[in-house]
Amino acid sequence: MRKYIIAGNWKMQKNLSEAIQLVSDLKNELEGKDIIAEVVIAPPFMALEAVKSLIKNSVIKLSAQNMHSADSGAFTGEVSADMLKSVGCEYVILGHSERRTIFGETDEFINSKIKQALKNNLIPIVCCGESLDERENGTTFNIIESQIKAAFNGLTNEQAEKLVIAYEPIWAIGTGKTASPEQAQEVHAFIRKIIAGLTTQEIANGLTIQYGGSVKPDNAKELLSKPDIDGALVGGACLKADSFRDIILSV
Ligand code: PGA
Repeated sequence: MRKYIIAGNWKMQKNLSEAIQLVSDLKNELEGKDIIAEVVIAPPFMALEAVKSLIKNSVIKLSAQNMHSADSGAFTGEVSADMLKSVGCEYVILGHSERRTIFGETDEFINSKIKQALKNNLIPIVCCGESLDERENGTTFNIIESQIKAAFNGLTNEQAEKLVIAYEPIWAIGTGKTASPEQAQEVHAFIRKIIAGLTTQEIANGLTIQYGGSVKPDNAKELLSKPDIDGALVGGACLKADSFRDIILSV
């Protein structure tokens, strides 16, 4: 059975006391609610440990926003998979478009991080998505295909079935411009087809493919009603406990 996953990517927002406040508010908002989706939050590194202790007896799971592909070493400013595991992360977001475009991460580097995350029993949430230029010049499907192929490069089927994919058109991130449910569904179905070719139809059918890019309480339900949209990766709207709650409850 495919799992619905609603994940909140806090990005570089919330200092320690604000992080504690947000996660406490979210716990209160979710208390006693009938929650179908898996709920994941990805606070900044420095808040992971404090957040972990607050979510201990709740449905909320912990993710990091990034990590390095090496076990350890001279990589100033970086964090390893083992470090993330040691503070209680179960997930890690990899290949977010902000990492790709602002920090120059390549498909190859992202693939090596995916392998490292799997080796350390972290579930990678692997992001893909086209820019506005790519959408307008008709290369969306080529871009998505090459990103997905690169992400799955060298993975066994047993590893591949652990991945979560997030389709995030770059033009929809933080812009208030959501892809229409039909536009998103079209790409999600395409991603599933590519993955079926790389693995098996059964594995592709079982994978969670999230949509991300200006997901809000008022558009979540319609997006999530599409057959190949199995969750959301939420930026802006996860920074307020009540709006994130409403997105979680739209599943
Ligand atoms: P947004 O961000 O919801 O603010 O558009 C989504 C993301 O970047 O994951």
